[in-house]
Amino acid sequence: MSTQPWTPTQLPLYDISKSYEYNSVHGPFFVGKIPERKFLPCNQWIDFLGHKVASPLGVPAGPLLNSKWTTLAARLGFDIVTYKTIRSREKQAHPIPNIIYLNAHEKLDDPNEKIIQKTELPQIKEDIAITNSFGMGCPNPEYLLEDIAKAKSELADGQILVVSVVGTPREGESFVDDFARTAMIAKEAGAEIIEANFSCPNVGKSTEGSIYSDPESVGEIASRIVGEIGDLPLIIKVGWYKDENKMKEVFQAATRAGVQAISGINTVGRKVVKADGSPALGPTRETSGVCGGPIRSYALDFIKKARKIIDEEKLGLTLIGVGGAIEPEHFDQFLDAGANVTMSATGMMWDPYLAIRWHKK
Ligand SMILES: Cc1cc2nc3c(=O)[nH]c(=O)nc-3n(C[C@H](O)[C@H](O)[C@H](O)COP(=O)(O)O)c2cc1C
Repeated sequence: MSTQPWTPTQLPLYDISKSYEYNSVHGPFFVGKIPERKFLPCNQWIDFLGHKVASPLGVPAGPLLNSKWTTLAARLGFDIVTYKTIRSREKQAHPIPNIIYLNAHEKLDDPNEKIIQKTELPQIKEDIAITNSFGMGCPNPEYLLEDIAKAKSELADGQILVVSVVGTPREGESFVDDFARTAMIAKEAGAEIIEANFSCPNVGKSTEGSIYSDPESVGEIASRIVGEIGDLPLIIKVGWYKDENKMKEVFQAATRAGVQAISGINTVGRKVVKADGSPALGPTRETSGVCGGPIRSYALDFIKKARKIIDEEKLGLTLIGVGGAIEPEHFDQFLDAGANVTMSATGMMWDPYLAIRWHKK
């Protein structure tokens, strides 16, 4: 697997040839300079769920493994930084490979179509496409309490930390209770905004990944979390919807439950294979989430439909647009399509100067 320089001066922040734990301890692999940034005067900052933020740019749940990563992203001009999805108990991440490159031009339209691995980093930036499969590994709660507080303390004025949480299905335990318990760990650590991950496509047979397409589950779990976290704003992270009516029902259920924002989209789940047709991540992980360039059209489709639903139904939800933003103009496309704020995961990991280039425009 190659980690060739993406630009002559900067490697990707994440070393895909190494484990998740190695990247947590030794990353992010940033070798460049932190460019100087002029913040807009604070009377031009925007409101994000009751907090003044200096720009509408952020990093969604995933690439920011711990406080070292959130701090770097914030210094690189991302003003809304999301701490990677946490669980109520420690869990090992999947072994490598966790990230592989994909052929970006493959069509995602047919869910049965297999996506083929690319062994080299694409030379054309817009073609960056990856699949990630981590199984949402997580350190123990003691570490999280300390590290989330540190992440928050290292942000500048005009920046905010979101903490992403997920429930873990365990034999004999309530999944909904566990979701609420995990949100409380985030709150105890000082999180000012919590995001519930209702949409991870890498958790196959469990209930974790499919919640976002079921209005009843969304309503039940979100109400329970809101009941626990009180005044803290709750975001729910969702995937792409084929069925617009279902999307509307979910948004309505979320609003009734007290959710304040919707973030979409998560990765698009597909079967990922090597050139010889065998599963690229091994036989136990045939399906994984595709992200980067190829999902941008899905993200745009999501944002436009979400904006229409939120406005027509007068839901008052804040909309976070994510998926395939690789160049600064993609952030503008998402904002123009109706997102209130916009984020990049794959784009920022392979081009840490992405936000700075947007600020300089
Ligand atoms: C390395 C990596 C890890 C991710 N882990 C999570 C996660 O733990 N929780 C989550 O809600 N989304 C996770 N995501 C999904 C991203 O938040 C985002 O929705 C998706 O990657 C699409 O955005 P992008 O095309 O800018 O990467 C992850 C994405 C990447 C690239």
